[in-house]
Amino acid sequence: MLSNIEFLSNVPIFSELEEETLEKIAKSGVIQSFKKNSIILNEEDSGSAFFVIAEGKVKISRSSNDDKEVILAMLNESDFFGEMSLLDGMTRSATVTAVEDSKIFIIQRAEFLDLLFKYPDVSVALLTELTKRLRAATLKIKALSLKDAEGKVATVLLQIADEVGKIRQGVVEIDHLPYQQELANMAGTSRETISRTLHSFAKKGLVELDGSRLRIIDYEKFKEMFH
Ligand code: CMP
Repeated sequence: MLSNIEFLSNVPIFSELEEETLEKIAKSGVIQSFKKNSIILNEEDSGSAFFVIAEGKVKISRSSNDDKEVILAMLNESDFFGEMSLLDGMTRSATVTAVEDSKIFIIQRAEFLDLLFKYPDVSVALLTELTKRLRAATLKIKALSLKDAEGKVATVLLQIADEVGKIRQGVVEIDHLPYQQELANMAGTSRETISRTLHSFAKKGLVELDGSRLRIIDYEKFKEMFH
């Protein structure tokens, strides 16, 4: 594992900071381990800490009273979460669950706010990332409310391709596609619809499926079709 400072220097919102400042941040936080499937934050809890993923992957989700889950986002190494409650003083807006064994760097509210006041680069980088998340949420609202099954599934595939896909000569390769139930919760549809739609995409030659690996054969065309 990387040292705390090496890890922090790879975090986009901290990338403009000098080593001395990174050292201070490293000292002001702690690393905590979370086992796969454990809950890091519960929606409606009150919040007093900010989190950065040092290792692993988390799921941001909300559940309804009848236990239906909608996955808002998946976050990876160097991504942050927990900023919303710290900024607006309200309860946590979503539940955050480790989907792999994860190590999370945790800073308390006062230190986090101090960083925003002292380092405008950190504030601007935070705003840039929040803007990106708002754009992603806008796409999600559009897919959930306006698109048919193919459109919903395609939007989720494009979102995953954007986050973890590797592009080579116009082909995007996703090594580990989430489980079908997870894809369903991301797309706001059922597991059966995911299965049917993925097979229909494969039959049309738009994607290739090989276990948990998925290839989007012509990324630009696929984007154009489901924009
Ligand atoms: P907070 O509300 O403090 O706790 C839950 C966190 O989940 C929230 O801060 C954000 O960091 C994150 N989060 C909430 N909604 C979204 C979303 N739509 N996309 C990405 N991250 C989110």
